[in-house]
Amino acid sequence: MSAAPAPDSRFDVVVIGAGAAGLFCAGVAGQLGAKVLLVDHSEKVAEKIRISGGGRCNFTNRELDPRQPHKHFLGENPNFCRSALARYTPSDFIALVRKHDIAFHEKHKGQLFGDRSSEDFIRMLLAECAAGGVTHWQPCTVSEVVHGSEGYVLQTGRGTVRAPAVVIATGGLSIPKIGATDFGYRIARQFGLRVVTPRPALVPLTFDGEAWAPFAQLAGLALPVRMETGQKKERMAFDEDLLFTHRGLSGPAVLQISSYWREGTAIRVDLAPGTDLAHDLLQAKARSRKLLANELAQWVPSRLADAWVQQDPAWQRPVNEASDKSLQQLAARLSAWELVPTGTEGYRKAEVTAGGVDTRELSSQTMESKQPGLYFIGEVVDVTGWLGGYNFQWAWASGFACAQAL
Ligand code: FDA
Repeated sequence: MSAAPAPDSRFDVVVIGAGAAGLFCAGVAGQLGAKVLLVDHSEKVAEKIRISGGGRCNFTNRELDPRQPHKHFLGENPNFCRSALARYTPSDFIALVRKHDIAFHEKHKGQLFGDRSSEDFIRMLLAECAAGGVTHWQPCTVSEVVHGSEGYVLQTGRGTVRAPAVVIATGGLSIPKIGATDFGYRIARQFGLRVVTPRPALVPLTFDGEAWAPFAQLAGLALPVRMETGQKKERMAFDEDLLFTHRGLSGPAVLQISSYWREGTAIRVDLAPGTDLAHDLLQAKARSRKLLANELAQWVPSRLADAWVQQDPAWQRPVNEASDKSLQQLAARLSAWELVPTGTEGYRKAEVTAGGVDTRELSSQTMESKQPGLYFIGEVVDVTGWLGGYNFQWAWASGFACAQAL
């Protein structure tokens, strides 16, 4: 790849953003014969891939079903991603990973991770770009994108660039300290394209300090739960781990629910899923003289049991001395704990940004917008995947669909 500055250059396409979607799209387009320029303002390439999956990159998910995208993706039109996901599937990406001899394993619910390091995937994508003869300028800013009779003219930190097509792959707003910007949304609005209001997703939830004080002592405690939000048709539920933090709740269950949670609404947590706690506690009462907290520790972690009984003096006694009613209330509180978050940890901690370029402005076949020659791929689009490799698969699939059309 060339890094030499070019004062006035022509390309078939300029891809802005060398993250997951941009790198992949640039490599595929280059290998299909396009003269591609890939530009990114950050010092380091693909920082999000580097930090993803705890440094091992959860690069796709085997459970993804392109025929039913609403099962693992959200957005104003979850069906928008169907075509791209069907044309570039997890098996296609797995084949590429195998071609590059990257060892991987399945962890949980179809999630595939590299055995070694996320760096393997960055090297793979850079090698694919090199195979496509992609010119890569990084760090390089883009200060202006205008469209005229000659196509697109871009003002960059390395001079003026012209191309008939521009691909915006600048991602969402999550983790600003590693280079996230609102560039994609600004470009969309500049060309009159609608943007669904972005919001942090896959993000820890926070609670009012005073109300949270009794639970703050549980920071660091993790346990399997069932968590729900929404009512009736909008109801979403996840069976995953929950993690208590000093400011609120995190862990996979909470990250998943956060994408669906709306401000001012409640979440419900079953802290002892799969048990009939009221029945079990009444049985314990008939045979035990232990403190209620000690009995409770059979079904939930003892730290949680100890903290939980502090909420009511009726629970701070031997189980055989507790009234049936108080045991039933304890069971009900634990299996349907309802709480209203005050907010989220925001873009600083969010794994993704929900919302983005409105899919009604884009072709689901090519990712081209209603502004001819201007494409949007990856997280900048209003397509948000569940935790577990779905967001990367969207980056690969949307990048692939776009590259075929360039
Ligand atoms: P991405 O954010 O990857 O790339 C955007 C690029 O555009 C960046 O390189 C940025 O520097 C550049 N850019 C931004 N503004 C610019 C500007 N003004 N000018 C030029 N360049 C600009 N997903 C998953 O499926 N599995 C996982 O394991 C994880 N793990 C994970 C962990 C953490 C901590 C986070 C924050 C996120 C994840 N994700 C994930 C989500 C995943 O990383 C994300 O959805 C994809 O990286 C999105 O790919 P994009 O290419 O769209 O954006």
